[in-house]
Amino acid sequence: MSNSDPGQQVPPEFPAWPKQSLRGHKLEGHRYTSREFMHLEWDHMWTRVWLLLGREDEMPAPGDWQQEEVGAESILMVRQSGGDIKAFYNVCQHRGQRLVSAARGHTNRFVCPYHSWAWTREGELDFVQDADDFPQGNPCGKLRLAELKCETFAGFIWVNMDPDCVPLREFLGPIWDEWEPYGLASWKRYVALSTTAPCNWKVVLDNFNESYHVNTVHRPRGAAVEKLRADSGIDTNYKTTRFDMADTGHSRMIMRGGYAGPAIDEEGIIGEPLASVLREWGLDPEDFRGRGEDTREALQQARRKLGPTMGYDYFDRLTDTQLTDAYHYTLFPNFAVSVWVDGFHFLRARPHPTDPEKCLFDNWWYAPDSPQLTEPVRTTSGVVDRKATVEHELFELGEKSMGLTIDQDLSVFPGQQRAMHSRGYSGSYLAGQESRTQRLHELVDDYIEGRRP
Ligand code: FES
Ligand SMILES: [Fe+2]
Repeated sequence: MSNSDPGQQVPPEFPAWPKQSLRGHKLEGHRYTSREFMHLEWDHMWTRVWLLLGREDEMPAPGDWQQEEVGAESILMVRQSGGDIKAFYNVCQHRGQRLVSAARGHTNRFVCPYHSWAWTREGELDFVQDADDFPQGNPCGKLRLAELKCETFAGFIWVNMDPDCVPLREFLGPIWDEWEPYGLASWKRYVALSTTAPCNWKVVLDNFNESYHVNTVHRPRGAAVEKLRADSGIDTNYKTTRFDMADTGHSRMIMRGGYAGPAIDEEGIIGEPLASVLREWGLDPEDFRGRGEDTREALQQARRKLGPTMGYDYFDRLTDTQLTDAYHYTLFPNFAVSVWVDGFHFLRARPHPTDPEKCLFDNWWYAPDSPQLTEPVRTTSGVVDRKATVEHELFELGEKSMGLTIDQDLSVFPGQQRAMHSRGYSGSYLAGQESRTQRLHELVDDYIEGRRP
């Protein structure tokens, strides 16, 4: 049933994703520690999937470029004169020098730091010194940078090292339609924290593929599970959470949100941050004392009615549950995101070039940006001024906080990675609500064994 005014078009809720069957094998320690397994993943999986690497708004003008690393590769993304983006391996075709080392810049030509061969934005070689000294002929006009498949969606740049890959839209499956209404391409980044983590990338993704840890790892010290459920405004109970897995390996978890849930405290008082959220939308938390279940629908109605007048023009295109609930997605293989009604929490783990026991972990936050929106952005790493210029910070784990929630997640990773070497660990014993973790590993195996979906 819809909460809208009569006559208003409310987008229908998205259907369940198709059912997947799992093989259910144990997840053993070597998957996280073995170099051999790391190489199998690289050769058969990382080099054959769409990887989210860059951001379009960070390279608006022709000649702007951005460079990101994934495993052993560095990928150079370049805005072309016609507005499209090309992606190249960041490697000179003379003798293999990396062309750029910075994260981004602007150029007409990429001049190699070794012997100054110059490559155009389009990847053509157009200058070499001593051009007449090549017995096999002048390489200009003959050699090109090695290009890889590149598409854009949601304002992000996606690349695929497999020349025979399926189009990005097909790879993303149902995610495309569910994300499109938010207009994510125009959202701005408000948190950009990256760290090297002493664990395999799957330790990170395993965690973001299950909510079983939420009531334990994220519980305030000494607090009861019910307290967390009551105050967060999110019902973390697996029985009311919806779990889905797509054919192409991505997962979705929807937790009912925007309400005080099944367990508000004895006096029925609604805690923070939900109380503040209600106030922002013109609702008095006191009116809901003792009936925390009712805040969700009230919030949906308030957002649907007031959203467009408050600068959230896309609320019209969202379903009722998108207006309140926690939509967590994990995109195969290495990208996890929580899509909130006004925030996009970006979590990514990139494999280390040589060490299976390390990864590069990104914790970023995007939020809508429009002149009408002036309230600070509420993120899991703190409150950020909407006009702030956000610098990307890269640091070693523990040097700086990533915000309480992510610090809590990160706190368990090193211990788990070390224990993966133990002779006393014979592999996982998973709960039903950890099926998405199981599926991540089964998909990795499918790729390795040549059965990619
Ligand atoms: S390696 Fe690039 S010019 Fe020699
Ligand atoms: Fe967590």
